[in-house]
Amino acid sequence: MSNPELDVIEFLLTATLYGERQDLEPDDLPPAYRSVFWSDGEIERPLSVTNTTASEATGVERPWAAVSGLMFTDRDDFSGSISFTDRDLAEEWFLERVDADHLAENPVLAAVYEDQVDGLDYEQSRAANRPSRADRAFIDARLEEAFDTDDEEEEEMLDLVDVRAPEEVEMTLNDLVLTHDQEDEIQKIVKAIEHRDYLAQIGLREIGKLLFVGPPGTGKTSVARALAHDLDLPFVEVKLSMITSQYLGETAKNVEKVFEVAKRLSPCILFMDEFDFVAKTRSSDEHAAIKRAVNTLLKSIDEISLIQDEVLLIGATNHPDQLDAAAWRRFDEIVNFPKPDSGMRADILRIVTRQMDIVDFDPETLADLTEGLTGSDLRLVLREAVLNALTEERTTLTQQDLKDAIVDFEERDNLKNMDMMDGDHEALVAGGDFSGDGDSGHDHDHDHDD
Ligand SMILES: Nc1ncnc2c1ncn2[C@@H]1O[C@H](COP(=O)(O)OP(=O)(O)OP(=O)(O)O)[C@@H](O)[C@H]1O
Ligand SMILES: [Mg+2]
Repeated sequence: MSNPELDVIEFLLTATLYGERQDLEPDDLPPAYRSVFWSDGEIERPLSVTNTTASEATGVERPWAAVSGLMFTDRDDFSGSISFTDRDLAEEWFLERVDADHLAENPVLAAVYEDQVDGLDYEQSRAANRPSRADRAFIDARLEEAFDTDDEEEEEMLDLVDVRAPEEVEMTLNDLVLTHDQEDEIQKIVKAIEHRDYLAQIGLREIGKLLFVGPPGTGKTSVARALAHDLDLPFVEVKLSMITSQYLGETAKNVEKVFEVAKRLSPCILFMDEFDFVAKTRSSDEHAAIKRAVNTLLKSIDEISLIQDEVLLIGATNHPDQLDAAAWRRFDEIVNFPKPDSGMRADILRIVTRQMDIVDFDPETLADLTEGLTGSDLRLVLREAVLNALTEERTTLTQQDLKDAIVDFEERDNLKNMDMMDGDHEALVAGGDFSGDGDSGHDHDHDHDD
């Protein structure tokens, strides 16, 4: 499908036009082009086209070789820069070979040729283009601006938060099976983000703090990440237990920094996993520094707002029973993540096997056999089935392989529960396969594949 000659000319033309049109912004450049021009959080004109930049931006291995045969291109031997000798000819050549749909994918071209090409709409094209604030390079520049990365303490602090660019999040909402309730909540938040200005105007501020509640492996983290991906928002993840366990004494300061990071990167999602940690430290007789940190945390949550700061806060917990009123009160929506019902299990199985051919595949029957399993469990079942088939040199699965993997999974699960309930270690040892892995005693050890 791809045409190296056309790809390189499009890149060269885009770079040339962008250099001339001062009204165009980084958001107008296609993300792949932008990625080669970022420097300290800026994209400066003119954009230089060389074999290196062209190859990185287009994926064409030898860009100059691809276009050197055209009569309107030239390369400067000394600087290596590639340019047009005859711009008009180049434009004519290019426009003869692409249609409106193609041009629409590149807002720079849409802006310039909108009047000449039927059906081309610059505003639409720009709205569909991923914004530059979602680029990794842009996020890193914002972080460097705000924090002294040569300072060891600040560096360590940045280790406590995991910042992902939306382009780095692979999960999308389409990969997840949601309850109606979850879909509604997500829809509401999407609308709230879209109509932020209106909400500010009418003074509605109590919005944009969600608490995801549910057992392990039910998709809490995945949904939060998928939102970041689908809404093009940077994803700032922090594990609360990390903040406080490592840096006693400095903890309250660290909590403040986390919120600073989020505000710096806004609009963004701030995801706080293990939220029950807050409750635990308030009730127990923890170190005073930790208590201070938790109070700072609660205060910071009060002060941050989706409407004013453009930070969407999502907390997650497996233990809602441990949260006290002070913690609950801070969230304006509670989203329940139950274990999937039979219909959802069938849908999850369909999604996780999407790229596979399975002989006699019958997800409904499998759903009936997997009562009580979570989305995460179902992925483990599939993995088991795939690996088992591979040991027999097979890359095609059958319904029976999946059934067998379900039985294996449940046997393993039973063993763990036995160990957990009455410390019956003999049963575990006699069982053979699972002895002494050191972490029996947890509910499930969910192997997150991310
Ligand atoms: N409803 C679902 N639809 C599709 N996949 C799911 C669903 N629930 C869980 N999964 C899959 O299970 C894996 C684990 O999910 P995730 O990490 O989001 O769970 P979690 O609720 O955050 O668990 P924990 O409480 O242990 O952090 C992911 O790979 C995810 O894709
Ligand atoms: Mg999680």
